[in-house]
Amino acid sequence: MGERFEVEATGIAHGGAAVARVAEEGGRVVFVRHAIPGERVVVEVTEGGDDDRFWRADAVEVLRASPDRVAAPCPVAGPGGCGGCDFQHVALDRQRALKAEVVAEQLRRLAGLEVPVTVEPVPGDEGGLRWRTRVRFARTPDGERGMRRHRSHDVVPVDDCLIARTDAREPVPGAAPLRETVTVGATTASFTVAADGFWQVHPGAPEALVAAVLEACRPRSGERVLDLYAGVGLFARFLGEAVGAAGTVLAVEGDPTAAQHAADNLADLAARAEVVSGAVHDVLDERSADPVDLVVLDPPREGARRPVVEQVAARRPRAVAYVACDPAALARDVAIFAEHGYALSSLRAFDLFPMTHHVECVALLEPRG
Ligand SMILES: C[S@@+](CC[C@H](N)C(=O)[O-])C[C@H]1O[C@@H](n2cnc3c(N)ncnc32)[C@H](O)[C@@H]1O
Repeated sequence: MGERFEVEATGIAHGGAAVARVAEEGGRVVFVRHAIPGERVVVEVTEGGDDDRFWRADAVEVLRASPDRVAAPCPVAGPGGCGGCDFQHVALDRQRALKAEVVAEQLRRLAGLEVPVTVEPVPGDEGGLRWRTRVRFARTPDGERGMRRHRSHDVVPVDDCLIARTDAREPVPGAAPLRETVTVGATTASFTVAADGFWQVHPGAPEALVAAVLEACRPRSGERVLDLYAGVGLFARFLGEAVGAAGTVLAVEGDPTAAQHAADNLADLAARAEVVSGAVHDVLDERSADPVDLVVLDPPREGARRPVVEQVAARRPRAVAYVACDPAALARDVAIFAEHGYALSSLRAFDLFPMTHHVECVALLEPRG
């Protein structure tokens, strides 16, 4: 820790650090924050000892800069500063290219697939800043607003977080629910969501994701749809409209408050929409006899995992739209779908979290052949 080395950053890792090797250490891998692949930098080791397979480090001096290096807009984005953003020092187009490399690499490594990936911008931010509609500040021991350092509980004072909108809300448990409005094509819908409940934080995200899901799985009149990990019913609402009065949508959500909001948000779809509050695995078990044409899966970061993927594949839907915030979990689940005869037929990726390493994907899985 604290030692300095000169290295060449050669690639990008899942998590936003550049990959380099330390020649003096027999080529030991070091994950470097604040560097860009292609750069030559001096790193200072922040984590790791003699027995560790890899180290972590910060780039503290740039010896040969990438043409994509920019001055970080945020004063606390550099080494030792706030751990929230990974890519403030990188031009936006290159940020997206780096995220695309990560998604492609996860699919290659974990699912054995060669997939061309483009990360698309979505409207609603200001050059990658001012997009978070919700923000949770930590507090310094003196009670000042702040953000945590990378991989630390220490709090760096941050009064104005530049990726947050100036009117961003700090989620307060028990506060009055919020009302969100989403327009996709000719359909506008409103959603009640708890002040501290799940809702996409980028203002362009709900529209972009709903449109991508509809475009991928093309719901038809009369189809039977499962919206798994449904939150307050965002996808269920638009899918319900698309399948018409002859179709059905079953929304499954584990959080009872979100499930209650989903029931309210879908109430005017009447008999065609049903909300079940419970764990996806249990509900799929209980409802295993229901026929299913389409499935939307939007699990938390850890992904749907093998048991749920196998339950979904066993129902033989004609298409599965998988919305994923972790490309590694997505790639692992795509590989499990492949074992059960489902192939990845399209993939889109969206820059819903500019300046950070995070990226959202919408994958379409269809029965092979
Ligand atoms: C990424 S959010 C998606 C919400 C919704 N699709 C949306 O776009 O607003 C994941 C949701 O899954 C729910 N969840 C997590 N684990 C679950 C489980 N095992 N069974 C059912 N729901 C679960 C969470 O409460 C959360 O609402």
